[in-house]
Amino acid sequence: MNEPTRVTELSELSAGESVLITVRDADGSEEEVIVVRTDECVAGWKNFCQHETDQRLDRGFGAAIRDGDIVCPKHGSMFDGCTGYCDNGEASESTLVAVDVDVRDDVVYLTDDECEYLHEGGIDDDDDDMPSSSSHLTF
Ligand code: FES
Repeated sequence: MNEPTRVTELSELSAGESVLITVRDADGSEEEVIVVRTDECVAGWKNFCQHETDQRLDRGFGAAIRDGDIVCPKHGSMFDGCTGYCDNGEASESTLVAVDVDVRDDVVYLTDDECEYLHEGGIDDDDDDMPSSSSHLTF
């Protein structure tokens, strides 16, 4: 059983925004999770579309959330941000894979027993071989 792990402060996650984190799944693999906030809920979902599972919902700069729905960037199917259910487009009649999160005292925690928190950002964001966002150029 994993201890609840702090993801973010509620004050840093407005309705219509998402946070991308990387977790280790029960099978040992690394997976990306988006934690989204709508007017109605805060919820966690594995970061892939149900139509094409190699399609990330958040490609590194936040998931598109419109009127409480998460919009797939490839074909535009919209998933309910609170239930994960999609009733439209290519991903119709599917549901995103849920990850348990909870809000306590205005802090969002990862509470899923199947997922161990690794770090903020996507899987590649913890790769030392990747160029950092700060420039090393000198003039
Ligand atoms: S890949 Fe998401 S709707 Fe097609």
